[in-house]
Amino acid sequence: MLSLQKVTTAEEFGEFNRRVWEAVERSENIEYVLEPKLDGLAVELVYEHGLFVLGSTRGDGHTGENVSLNLKTIGSIPLKLSEDTARKYPRLEVRGEVIMRLSDFKKLNRQLEEQGTATLANPRNGAAGSLRQLDPTITASRPLLFSAYGISDTGLAGLSDQGEVLDFLRREKFYTNELIRTVRGVDAVTAAFNEIEAMRSSMDYEIDGVVIKVNSFSDQELLGQISRAPRWAVAWKFSAELAETVLVGVEFSVGRTGVVTPVARLEPVKVGGVLVSNASLHNEDLLNDLNLDIGDRVVVRRAGDVIPEVVERLEGQSRTNKPIRYPRNCPSCGLPIVRPEGEAAHRCLNLACPAQTEGRLYHFSAKTGFDVEGLGGKLARQLIAEKLVSDPADLFFLTKEKLLPLPLMADKRAQNLLDSIERSRSAPLPNIICALGIIGVGETASQILAEHSGSFNKLAESSVDELEAIHGIGSVMARNIVDFFENKGNQRMIAKLRQGGVEFPDYVSSRSAGRLSGKTVVITGKLSRPRSHFKNLIEAAGGKVLGAVSASTDYLLCGSDPGSKLDKARKLGIKILDEAGLSDLL
Ligand code: IVH
Repeated sequence: MLSLQKVTTAEEFGEFNRRVWEAVERSENIEYVLEPKLDGLAVELVYEHGLFVLGSTRGDGHTGENVSLNLKTIGSIPLKLSEDTARKYPRLEVRGEVIMRLSDFKKLNRQLEEQGTATLANPRNGAAGSLRQLDPTITASRPLLFSAYGISDTGLAGLSDQGEVLDFLRREKFYTNELIRTVRGVDAVTAAFNEIEAMRSSMDYEIDGVVIKVNSFSDQELLGQISRAPRWAVAWKFSAELAETVLVGVEFSVGRTGVVTPVARLEPVKVGGVLVSNASLHNEDLLNDLNLDIGDRVVVRRAGDVIPEVVERLEGQSRTNKPIRYPRNCPSCGLPIVRPEGEAAHRCLNLACPAQTEGRLYHFSAKTGFDVEGLGGKLARQLIAEKLVSDPADLFFLTKEKLLPLPLMADKRAQNLLDSIERSRSAPLPNIICALGIIGVGETASQILAEHSGSFNKLAESSVDELEAIHGIGSVMARNIVDFFENKGNQRMIAKLRQGGVEFPDYVSSRSAGRLSGKTVVITGKLSRPRSHFKNLIEAAGGKVLGAVSASTDYLLCGSDPGSKLDKARKLGIKILDEAGLSDLL
């Protein structure tokens, strides 16, 4: 997924505009389209010959989840486009955001509450959760809205700018946001941004900023993109929202790696539309800097998806003199905690600590890992307390007989959990790597490691040198990986996973297959790796690499110091990609 460059002030936007202005060699004001940045779930819809054939989420950039059946139930997604479009565009990819309106969200939560079902935390989770349902009839019952904002290919005949795309989408009966506007120059952009921000609290949906796009496609192509961020668009984020409330208490939570974090319990307060009752206090040093007593009035900040935090104590109040004491013992297992030299964090070093076990189990079964549904906090805690699970591999040895005695565990619920565990036995390689919880190895690194090693065994046998040689894996991470696999306890856990039926499949790249089928690519200029590397990538995606540019060339992959091929490609209007552009395409 392409992420967006971000700005937060008029000056920073001015800087962005200056770069655009230079790149497109323009003497007049640049034309921009402003769109509210909707806070929902990004999706992409594929139409072939005018018919909806596929829809996926574009969450983390790599593994778009296929949610076609669920998307089909959303009324604002047309299943059939006009005949004209079917003829003109044999394949069309429409991008947009699936959101839940605030009023719909509140109504839905009231219904869920009446049914005694868990309510949704916020509209964003509401939209995401509703789309990820296994049963499309549930999605169909949820009030979702697809708000279209673009197409993936700017080279479609007859469409020469963002505004024309939006008009086209509206003609094809897509919903587009009402506040989208086109303006020229920095001052007009700033004024329009301020207007949209002023309307924010009265809108019936949540937005976290404004996306500003260079209108003209030919200018967009001149600008290209850096890594994953297009240079022709920027997200102007609203400044963080602040609110005042009272510090009711401080609790210390222990994460899966043993880090002890102070968490402020607050009198609930709305910050930017969300009710906040907990906020992070980070660590002992920052807690001391804040100089807080229980009962103090404090300022809380929430910015986008970030965990809310306490920014400062409000001066001029009478103090309660109820100071906060950092614990000496782990609040979960009771053993002493330590603050290692040079670290800001305190840690519980007891690997068998219930809070750590719970954290590891939670991480292990998360979507990014083995994706075991129904293993929320409460159940995880029960499984650990009842000694049914002491390390995550124990999950694969659960049976109905073991589960049924747990409180609130009916036959159906136990069966659902076991079914979900069964599905997770075939979790793909990147998810398995991520689930292990190796320090520093998150979703992105796991993906890279899976792509490079291809199999779990190969990864487990890799040396520090081999790992360090991988682009994107640093020396500390390489060391952590090797240490992890050399650890006897971890080896036992992995053996237990195998015994429990985890399949450890080799890595198959699904995302690039067929992406370039039938397309021809010409390469020019100096690239960061040998040409054969890029040739392999292109061929693996079904494309062909040719030596010379002609009218039938689809793409020019262009490095530094390009030759005459670039001029020729420009004249013929052929799409020009840099390395990042290619990798996004794949
Ligand atoms: S354009 C090439 N327009 O923001 C740029 N994105 O980082 C692609 N988003 O999750 C994004 N409203 O789904 C664009 N009007 C809008 C948007 C928008 C929300 C989301 C998008 C993605 C993130 C982009």
